[in-house]
Amino acid sequence: MMQNLTGDQIREKFLNFFQKNGHYVFPSASLLPEDKTVLFITAGMQPLVPYLVGREHPKGKRLASSQKCLRTDDILEVGDNRHLTFFEMLGNWSLGDYFKKEAILWSFELLTSKDNGFGIDPNKLSVTVFEGDENAPRDDEAINIWVEAFKSAGIQAGLGNKIYAYPKKKNWWGPVGDSGPCGPDTEIFYDTEKEHQRSFGEKCHVNCDCGKYVEIWNNVFMEYQKTKDGKYEPLAQKNVDTGMGLERIVMLLQNKPTVFETDLLWPIIGETIKQSGIPYEAQTHSYRIIADHLRASAFLIADGVLPSNTEQGYILRRLLRRAFRHAKMLNLRSYFYADLTKKISEIYKNRYPEISKKENEILTVMHDEEEKFSKALEKGLKYLKSWGEKNRAGTANAKNLSEEEIGDLIFYMYESHGFPMDDTLEEIRNMGWQFDIEKAKNIADEKFKKHQEVSRSGAEKKFGGHGLLLQTGELKAANEEELQKVTKLHTATHLLHEALRRVLGEHVMQKGSDITAERLRFDFSHPQKMTDEEKKKVEDMVNSEIQKGMEVKMEEMEYEKATQTGALGLFKDKYENKVKVYSVGAFSKELCGGPHVKNTSERGKFKILKEESSSAGIRRIKAAVL
Ligand code: ALA
Repeated sequence: MMQNLTGDQIREKFLNFFQKNGHYVFPSASLLPEDKTVLFITAGMQPLVPYLVGREHPKGKRLASSQKCLRTDDILEVGDNRHLTFFEMLGNWSLGDYFKKEAILWSFELLTSKDNGFGIDPNKLSVTVFEGDENAPRDDEAINIWVEAFKSAGIQAGLGNKIYAYPKKKNWWGPVGDSGPCGPDTEIFYDTEKEHQRSFGEKCHVNCDCGKYVEIWNNVFMEYQKTKDGKYEPLAQKNVDTGMGLERIVMLLQNKPTVFETDLLWPIIGETIKQSGIPYEAQTHSYRIIADHLRASAFLIADGVLPSNTEQGYILRRLLRRAFRHAKMLNLRSYFYADLTKKISEIYKNRYPEISKKENEILTVMHDEEEKFSKALEKGLKYLKSWGEKNRAGTANAKNLSEEEIGDLIFYMYESHGFPMDDTLEEIRNMGWQFDIEKAKNIADEKFKKHQEVSRSGAEKKFGGHGLLLQTGELKAANEEELQKVTKLHTATHLLHEALRRVLGEHVMQKGSDITAERLRFDFSHPQKMTDEEKKKVEDMVNSEIQKGMEVKMEEMEYEKATQTGALGLFKDKYENKVKVYSVGAFSKELCGGPHVKNTSERGKFKILKEESSSAGIRRIKAAVL
């Protein structure tokens, strides 16, 4: 087995193998999905959904990539020996081109070949296939191909011997969300030859969680489309979608006991140990949590997420705050994450240079959240302590808590003290209470959902002004004179948006806008108050564009093309196929419904009247053209 490869080299080896076999290798998409059905990219195939359901891909029918992914279902499990939130998924795809035979034989070759691949001993591999049900038959085709593959390595395999059939729960993949492409899969497992642990069941088997068998690669034969009403319909084209967790294969090839000791994570942990001085063995859990959560947070921030109380921002907040709490357990000083983020950018400097490019931004966001959290933590812990005393925590007559009461406490701690759910749960457990975590989480979740609906309807209101203008071309103007003023401010809003991105950074995105004849109001993502100098720079930049007398041009094009040209795309889920792109000279380019002035010289002097906080991570500017 190739034990001397770095994580970078293993990723490259995978991608090169498929490139040699006619695949186009494309870069990872952002962690944030284009379509909003789920919060994050959780699998390599997600950015490819339009092509898996029939659209032609400009780069052909064979593709491969290493995709940044984030899975948040198991946040509380991180710290054990295998769960991660952020990970990379290596994958190869056939869009209606090759099918089971090539996919399986390539997987086998890449894993086992000493010349072209990783040189894993084929005796250590076992596979699973779909056993069949009312929607699709047993995957005999895959079974036969596997028999052939093992035979080529001199191994006599058959159903029940190296090849095992399982129901849908195990060997069916997708769709992501409620509907979309899916199909039977075949999973490849590696036998670590560790002892089976009885606590996981009487007998070990490939799908046992004891850690003896590690799943390394999943080949999905995507032939079905699950419809919104739960039916499975044949897809127009038969696709292959595969996924191999980079960290896991690196762990095996580098012969490390867990993913945390690989060169993708160990440098972060090593730096933390240096700062803390506490031995790894004494606080393994905390070290791992910090490494995983900070790495995920750095990638999220680099992709434009800011901590907030809803959706993606809420996950980032949870990750950061949990990392901060564990940092306290390791006695780390404030700002400990600066050196750790440096390590993260070093690890990924070749593959994901966005981390080092945005290092300052990442640290500013982390620092801001650390300050908010330390205030909340102090107050929150005080409250929890008195709550514990009131309920006789740790004593023989401690109160019997119902899951409902725990759910209430979780929600209260979150709403009043900004305490993430996980932290409250951990604290209650530390006080000695035993309870059904899942039940308590569900009850708390109901309350969170209600809370999110309320804040989401607030967000929709925020989008009212500019959003309405974008979608319908309607203007909030009572007469012709007002219309002209609003139109001018509308063009000024585009200039402002671009100027903010140039002065503050590309994390700035429009979060809302409202224009009246007197002023524009613009909400945007940015973690801290703007300095006077920054405000002046933005004003000067907008005014200089105005004075240049720039022409405002409108072009209609397909949404895809528009985003490829670099146009800022907002409210994308509401656009039809063709969109209008307004450019102001070469300065700004933005998707918009208009209308705009024809030339910026039709405008006066731009002035920022006020810059203030709108909500967590969102600033608001009020400005006028005088
Ligand atoms: N999409 C498949 C997975 O995530 C390959 O396992």
